Amino acid sequence: MTPMKRFPAFRIHADEADTRAGIELVDLEQLSDGDVIIRVHYSSVNYKDALAGTGKARILRRSPLVGGIDLAGEVVMSSSNRFAPGDTVLVNGSGLSEVHDGGYAGYARVPADWIVPLPAKLNLDEAMIIGTAGFTAALCIHMMQQNHQLPEAGPVLVTGASGGVGSFAVHLLARLGYEVVAATGTPGADGYLRKLGAQEVIARDEVEIGRDLLGKARWAGAIDNVGGKTLSSVVRSTRPWGNVASVGIAGGSSFQLSTMPFIIRGVNLLGVSSSNCPQSLRRHIWERLGEDLRPGQIRSIHAQTVYLEDLPDVFTRLLNNEIRGRVLVKVLDS
Ligand SMILES: NC(=O)c1ccc[n+]([C@@H]2O[C@H](COP(=O)([O-])OP(=O)(O)OC[C@H]3O[C@@H](n4cnc5c(N)ncnc54)[C@H](OP(=O)(O)O)[C@@H]3O)[C@@H](O)[C@H]2O)c1
Repeated sequence: MTPMKRFPAFRIHADEADTRAGIELVDLEQLSDGDVIIRVHYSSVNYKDALAGTGKARILRRSPLVGGIDLAGEVVMSSSNRFAPGDTVLVNGSGLSEVHDGGYAGYARVPADWIVPLPAKLNLDEAMIIGTAGFTAALCIHMMQQNHQLPEAGPVLVTGASGGVGSFAVHLLARLGYEVVAATGTPGADGYLRKLGAQEVIARDEVEIGRDLLGKARWAGAIDNVGGKTLSSVVRSTRPWGNVASVGIAGGSSFQLSTMPFIIRGVNLLGVSSSNCPQSLRRHIWERLGEDLRPGQIRSIHAQTVYLEDLPDVFTRLLNNEIRGRVLVKVLDS
């Protein structure tokens, strides 16, 4: 298949003063360099995409760039001997929509090193419902398991539970036999989170404790999407030798802590960065997502499918906390 001459792309122009984003017709020569050209079928909407597309935070380190930190599709041209036309593949993070044109366009041109073969038991759309959010949840769990987080140690807390990372974290932990406590600020999310496997659902503000250096030890471990005071409270109320994966900043980026949780209880604070995850680990996590971590409830977590032209509205709704689960972007027909 010969890539078409011009195709639609959701492009972001960001400078110190302003961010402008919208659909433009581009050609292959305008895309960042790479040895593989992919016909993009699907992408997704992550918190970071919404920040980049609205300019609410400075995500792009080059401008303009095609947005979209995730993409899945079919190889149409390759000068790498590792990929051939017809291969179904995905790319997540790796600098997409930060320093390299991303997945919100009919085609992407990327280095072969960044490409992950589509796991055998996932379709292209399933891979993008999972996307960076599901990948990051799986990465957290993998890191916690490597640090000896066992189901029998007790309840694992997930904050920001109804979001993309949170939904997959709840579901994947439950599938592995962990007792999951989901903390949410979304009214009416109780049934959804229990269906994904949460044994208990608590209100967002129930996580926060006072300012004591150590709080009552409640959680055997945690995946925190919120940051700020929430993260501080979670670490201070984690049981001895528990693992807290720090993922997100939905509630703030700075936090205060003493060393007490670490040196008295042996709590581990695990930093999770999906964007620059080493490629061998990235491939391993995706393999797990197609095997033992394959989410059984992908369709329940899928909130809606949108097209490139819908992105500005979706970004606003996501940042206003009006979306539960994951938004899939159908690029092929946009
Ligand atoms: N480190 C990494 O590699 C990585 C990768 C992916 C995402 N992230 C980060 O992880 C977070 C979640 O990403 P996502 O794509 O899952 O976003 P999302 O779908 O928008 O989910 C964020 C969730 O956080 C909660 N929340 C929103 N605003 C909040 C506030 N002001 N205070 C407390 N909680 C709030 C909401 O859940 P409830 O209503 O259920 O509380 C919301 O659904 C983001 O901060 C994102 O930047 C990091």
